[in-house]
Amino acid sequence: PLEYPFVVAVDGPAGSGKSSVSKEVARRLGWAFLDTGAAYRALAWHATASHVDTDDAASVAAALDSFAYRIDTDPYGYRVHVGDVDVTEAIREPGISAVVSAVARVPEVRTHLIEVFRAIIAAEGREGIVVEGRDITTVVAPDAPVRILLTAAEEVRMARRAKELEGHSAEATGAQLRARDRADAKVVDFMNAAEGVTTVDSTDLDFDATVEAVIAVIRDAQVRT
Ligand code: DC
Repeated sequence: PLEYPFVVAVDGPAGSGKSSVSKEVARRLGWAFLDTGAAYRALAWHATASHVDTDDAASVAAALDSFAYRIDTDPYGYRVHVGDVDVTEAIREPGISAVVSAVARVPEVRTHLIEVFRAIIAAEGREGIVVEGRDITTVVAPDAPVRILLTAAEEVRMARRAKELEGHSAEATGAQLRARDRADAKVVDFMNAAEGVTTVDSTDLDFDATVEAVIAVIRDAQVRT
Protein backbone atom coordinates (compact mmCIF):
# COMPACT_ATOMS: atom_id res chain seq x y z
CA PRO A 1 0.00 0.00 0.00
CA LEU A 2 1.08 3.57 -0.63
CA GLU A 3 -0.13 4.82 2.70
CA TYR A 4 -0.19 3.50 6.23
CA PRO A 5 -3.80 2.71 7.20
CA PHE A 6 -5.76 4.69 9.78
CA VAL A 7 -5.45 2.51 12.90
CA VAL A 8 -8.19 2.16 15.50
CA ALA A 9 -6.81 0.31 18.54
CA VAL A 10 -9.40 -1.32 20.82
CA ASP A 11 -8.56 -3.07 24.10
CA GLY A 12 -10.75 -4.48 26.83
CA PRO A 13 -11.53 -7.48 29.01
CA ALA A 14 -13.26 -10.68 27.88
CA GLY A 15 -17.00 -10.26 27.37
CA SER A 16 -16.75 -6.51 26.78
CA GLY A 17 -18.02 -7.15 23.26
CA LYS A 18 -14.85 -5.78 21.72
CA SER A 19 -14.63 -8.44 19.01
CA SER A 20 -18.18 -8.14 17.72
CA VAL A 21 -18.22 -4.35 18.12
CA SER A 22 -14.83 -3.90 16.39
CA LYS A 23 -15.87 -6.17 13.52
CA GLU A 24 -19.12 -4.25 13.01
CA VAL A 25 -17.31 -0.89 13.12
CA ALA A 26 -14.93 -2.17 10.40
CA ARG A 27 -17.88 -3.35 8.30
CA ARG A 28 -19.68 -0.01 8.50
CA LEU A 29 -16.55 1.94 7.58
CA GLY A 30 -15.44 -0.50 4.87
CA TRP A 31 -12.20 -1.03 6.76
CA ALA A 32 -10.14 -4.05 7.78
CA PHE A 33 -10.46 -5.92 11.09
CA LEU A 34 -7.81 -7.76 13.10
CA ASP A 35 -8.69 -9.94 16.11
CA THR A 36 -5.32 -10.42 17.82
CA GLY A 37 -6.74 -12.77 20.46
CA ALA A 38 -7.48 -15.18 17.60
CA ALA A 39 -3.72 -15.44 16.90
CA TYR A 40 -2.99 -16.32 20.55
CA ARG A 41 -5.83 -18.84 20.37
CA ALA A 42 -4.49 -20.29 17.10
CA LEU A 43 -1.10 -20.81 18.75
CA ALA A 44 -2.79 -22.46 21.74
CA TRP A 45 -4.59 -24.74 19.27
CA HIS A 46 -1.34 -25.54 17.43
CA ALA A 47 0.49 -26.28 20.70
CA THR A 48 -2.33 -28.54 21.89
CA ALA A 49 -2.52 -30.34 18.54
CA SER A 50 1.27 -30.86 18.67
CA HIS A 51 1.00 -32.32 22.20
CA VAL A 52 3.00 -29.45 23.69
CA ASP A 53 2.68 -28.95 27.46
CA THR A 54 1.21 -25.43 27.47
CA ASP A 55 2.43 -24.86 31.05
CA ASP A 56 6.02 -25.24 29.88
CA ALA A 57 7.08 -21.84 28.51
CA ALA A 58 10.16 -23.18 26.68
CA SER A 59 8.11 -25.79 24.82
CA VAL A 60 5.49 -23.19 23.89
CA ALA A 61 8.20 -20.86 22.60
CA ALA A 62 9.67 -23.74 20.57
CA ALA A 63 6.23 -24.42 19.04
CA LEU A 64 6.47 -21.00 17.34
CA ASP A 65 8.97 -22.52 14.86
CA SER A 66 6.30 -24.76 13.36
CA PHE A 67 3.43 -22.28 13.73
CA ALA A 68 2.14 -21.57 10.20
CA TYR A 69 -1.06 -19.60 10.43
CA ARG A 70 -3.06 -17.13 8.42
CA ILE A 71 -5.46 -14.52 9.72
CA ASP A 72 -7.86 -12.64 7.49
CA THR A 73 -8.47 -8.91 7.85
CA ASP A 74 -11.78 -9.07 6.00
CA PRO A 75 -14.57 -8.24 8.49
CA TYR A 76 -17.04 -10.29 6.41
CA GLY A 77 -15.27 -13.58 5.69
CA TYR A 78 -13.13 -13.66 8.82
CA ARG A 79 -11.30 -17.05 8.98
CA VAL A 80 -8.27 -18.30 10.91
CA HIS A 81 -6.07 -21.10 9.50
CA VAL A 82 -3.19 -23.09 10.98
CA GLY A 83 -1.48 -24.80 8.06
CA ASP A 84 -4.36 -26.05 5.92
CA VAL A 85 -6.74 -26.45 8.84
CA ASP A 86 -9.54 -23.92 9.29
CA VAL A 87 -9.54 -23.41 13.07
CA THR A 88 -11.99 -20.48 13.18
CA GLU A 89 -14.50 -22.39 15.29
CA ALA A 90 -12.09 -24.74 17.10
CA ILE A 91 -10.17 -21.87 18.74
CA ARG A 92 -13.36 -20.82 20.60
CA GLU A 93 -13.70 -24.17 22.38
CA PRO A 94 -13.40 -24.19 26.21
CA GLY A 95 -10.28 -26.39 26.00
CA ILE A 96 -8.48 -23.61 24.13
CA SER A 97 -9.83 -20.83 26.38
CA ALA A 98 -8.48 -22.79 29.34
CA VAL A 99 -4.87 -22.83 28.07
CA VAL A 100 -4.61 -19.62 26.01
CA SER A 101 -3.54 -17.42 28.95
CA ALA A 102 -0.55 -19.68 29.63
CA VAL A 103 0.46 -19.43 25.97
CA ALA A 104 -0.05 -15.64 25.83
CA ARG A 105 2.20 -14.93 28.81
CA VAL A 106 5.31 -16.47 27.21
CA PRO A 107 7.58 -13.50 26.34
CA GLU A 108 8.83 -15.02 23.03
CA VAL A 109 5.23 -15.52 21.96
CA ARG A 110 4.33 -11.90 22.64
CA THR A 111 7.44 -10.55 20.91
CA HIS A 112 6.75 -12.68 17.85
CA LEU A 113 3.04 -11.94 17.55
CA ILE A 114 3.47 -8.19 18.16
CA GLU A 115 5.80 -8.07 15.14
CA VAL A 116 3.35 -10.11 13.08
CA PHE A 117 0.47 -7.76 13.98
CA ARG A 118 2.52 -4.69 13.05
CA ALA A 119 3.39 -6.28 9.69
CA ILE A 120 -0.28 -7.12 9.01
CA ILE A 121 -1.27 -3.51 9.81
CA ALA A 122 1.48 -2.06 7.62
CA ALA A 123 0.52 -4.29 4.68
CA GLU A 124 -3.19 -3.43 4.87
CA GLY A 125 -4.50 -1.94 1.65
CA ARG A 126 -7.78 -0.57 2.97
CA GLU A 127 -8.02 2.99 4.28
CA GLY A 128 -8.26 1.91 7.90
CA ILE A 129 -8.03 -1.09 10.22
CA VAL A 130 -9.71 -1.82 13.54
CA VAL A 131 -7.34 -3.87 15.71
CA GLU A 132 -8.61 -5.39 18.93
CA GLY A 133 -6.94 -7.17 21.83
CA ARG A 134 -5.43 -6.45 25.23
CA ASP A 135 -2.25 -4.48 24.49
CA ILE A 136 -3.05 -2.75 21.19
CA THR A 137 -3.44 0.75 22.69
CA THR A 138 -0.28 0.38 24.77
CA VAL A 139 2.19 -1.93 22.98
CA VAL A 140 1.19 -2.95 19.45
CA ALA A 141 0.02 0.46 18.20
CA PRO A 142 0.60 3.11 20.91
CA ASP A 143 0.79 5.80 18.17
CA ALA A 144 -2.61 4.92 16.66
CA PRO A 145 -4.76 8.02 15.97
CA VAL A 146 -7.67 6.36 17.81
CA ARG A 147 -7.18 4.31 20.97
CA ILE A 148 -10.18 2.99 22.85
CA LEU A 149 -10.69 0.95 26.01
CA LEU A 150 -14.02 -0.82 25.74
CA THR A 151 -15.36 -1.68 29.17
CA ALA A 152 -18.57 -2.88 30.79
CA ALA A 153 -19.52 -3.70 34.37
CA GLU A 154 -18.56 -7.25 35.30
CA GLU A 155 -22.17 -8.45 35.79
CA VAL A 156 -23.03 -7.18 32.32
CA ARG A 157 -20.01 -8.90 30.75
CA MET A 158 -20.90 -12.19 32.45
CA ALA A 159 -24.52 -11.92 31.33
CA ARG A 160 -23.53 -11.21 27.72
CA ARG A 161 -21.15 -14.15 27.65
CA ALA A 162 -23.78 -16.44 29.18
CA LYS A 163 -26.15 -15.45 26.38
CA GLU A 164 -23.49 -16.21 23.76
CA LEU A 165 -23.07 -19.67 25.31
CA GLU A 166 -26.58 -20.74 24.42
CA GLY A 167 -25.78 -21.00 20.72
CA HIS A 168 -22.28 -22.44 20.68
CA SER A 169 -19.66 -23.56 23.13
CA ALA A 170 -17.34 -20.94 24.58
CA GLU A 171 -16.45 -20.24 28.18
CA ALA A 172 -18.01 -22.81 30.52
CA THR A 173 -18.78 -20.46 33.38
CA GLY A 174 -18.46 -16.86 34.45
CA ALA A 175 -15.91 -18.02 37.02
CA GLN A 176 -13.66 -19.30 34.23
CA LEU A 177 -13.97 -15.96 32.43
CA ARG A 178 -13.04 -14.05 35.59
CA ALA A 179 -10.07 -16.35 36.21
CA ARG A 180 -8.83 -15.78 32.65
CA ASP A 181 -9.15 -12.00 32.97
CA ARG A 182 -7.20 -12.10 36.22
CA ALA A 183 -4.43 -14.20 34.66
CA ASP A 184 -4.30 -12.02 31.52
CA ALA A 185 -4.31 -8.76 33.50
CA LYS A 186 -1.06 -9.81 35.19
CA VAL A 187 0.63 -9.70 31.77
CA VAL A 188 -0.93 -6.52 30.34
CA ASP A 189 -3.17 -4.02 32.08
CA PHE A 190 -6.34 -3.77 30.01
CA MET A 191 -8.66 -2.86 32.88
CA ASN A 192 -7.43 0.74 33.15
CA ALA A 193 -7.14 3.20 30.29
CA ALA A 194 -3.57 4.32 29.57
CA GLU A 195 -2.89 8.01 29.05
CA GLY A 196 -4.61 9.36 25.96
CA VAL A 197 -6.91 6.32 25.65
CA THR A 198 -10.66 7.01 25.39
CA THR A 199 -12.89 4.81 27.54
CA VAL A 200 -16.16 3.66 26.01
CA ASP A 201 -18.30 2.12 28.75
CA SER A 202 -20.95 -0.13 27.22
CA THR A 203 -22.66 -1.08 30.50
CA ASP A 204 -25.81 0.87 29.60
CA LEU A 205 -25.46 0.67 25.82
CA ASP A 206 -26.85 -1.99 23.52
CA PHE A 207 -24.73 -3.38 20.68
CA ASP A 208 -25.79 -0.78 18.13
CA ALA A 209 -25.26 2.14 20.50
CA THR A 210 -21.79 0.82 21.38
CA VAL A 211 -20.87 0.60 17.69
CA GLU A 212 -22.10 4.17 17.18
CA ALA A 213 -20.14 5.40 20.22
CA VAL A 214 -16.93 3.91 18.79
CA ILE A 215 -17.61 5.40 15.36
CA ALA A 216 -18.23 8.79 17.00
CA VAL A 217 -14.75 8.62 18.60
CA ILE A 218 -13.25 7.78 15.18
CA ARG A 219 -15.11 10.60 13.40
CA ASP A 220 -13.98 13.04 16.05
CA ALA A 221 -10.34 12.01 15.58
CA GLN A 222 -10.63 12.21 11.78
CA VAL A 223 -11.79 15.81 12.08
CA ARG A 224 -8.75 16.60 14.19
CA THR A 225 -6.13 14.82 12.05
O1 DC B 1 -9.81 -11.80 23.12
P1 DC B 1 -9.66 -13.29 23.33
O2 DC B 1 -10.43 -13.80 24.51
O3 DC B 1 -9.95 -14.09 22.09
O4 DC B 1 -8.11 -13.50 23.64
C1 DC B 1 -7.56 -14.77 23.88
C2 DC B 1 -6.38 -14.68 24.83
O5 DC B 1 -5.26 -14.07 24.21
C3 DC B 1 -6.68 -13.87 26.08
O6 DC B 1 -6.89 -14.77 27.16
C4 DC B 1 -5.47 -13.02 26.31
C5 DC B 1 -4.62 -13.16 25.08
N1 DC B 1 -4.40 -11.89 24.35
C6 DC B 1 -3.30 -11.16 24.67
O7 DC B 1 -2.57 -11.53 25.59
N2 DC B 1 -3.02 -10.02 23.97
C7 DC B 1 -3.83 -9.60 22.98
N3 DC B 1 -3.55 -8.49 22.30
C8 DC B 1 -4.99 -10.35 22.66
C9 DC B 1 -5.25 -11.49 23.37
